[in-house]
Amino acid sequence: MQPQPTRRSLLDVILGVGLLGFFTSIVFPVLRYLKPMAPQDGAGVLRLSKEDQARLEKEHTLIVRHGAKRLLVFEDPQQRLCALEARCTHEGCTVQYVPGDALIWCACHNGRFDLEGRVLSGPPPRPLARWLAQREPDGAITVSPPAQQERV
Ligand code: FES
Repeated sequence: MQPQPTRRSLLDVILGVGLLGFFTSIVFPVLRYLKPMAPQDGAGVLRLSKEDQARLEKEHTLIVRHGAKRLLVFEDPQQRLCALEARCTHEGCTVQYVPGDALIWCACHNGRFDLEGRVLSGPPPRPLARWLAQREPDGAITVSPPAQQERV
């Protein structure tokens, strides 16, 4: 015969769950603070998530965050993967790919770049940094920073 749960045992369970939640809410932030952070500088190779890949295939252009950087990944008219830093070299607005005109455009001050990132017109003083976007044998898309392109 099983013992009947008493009011006291029910209160013990409720108190135990409350204390567990209380200590978890203290311990978890402390552990998260102590755990070393992953590199956030956007210096390494970026592997696109499945959702980003699906969006790229559907819209042929995508802006992804990589650490502190924004990258513009797109398929050019020959359907080659390209990647450029999406931060305009003028005042830092986010550029966008205009497939119809085959150019990169900054809406802030009408800066225009070619698909290699070179300035065509407008106020941007420098080209956009080129990254290497490629399809891996497993189907994933990776984007490598300029300095790592030789190693890939
Ligand atoms: S910020 Fe891009 S053209 Fe000025």
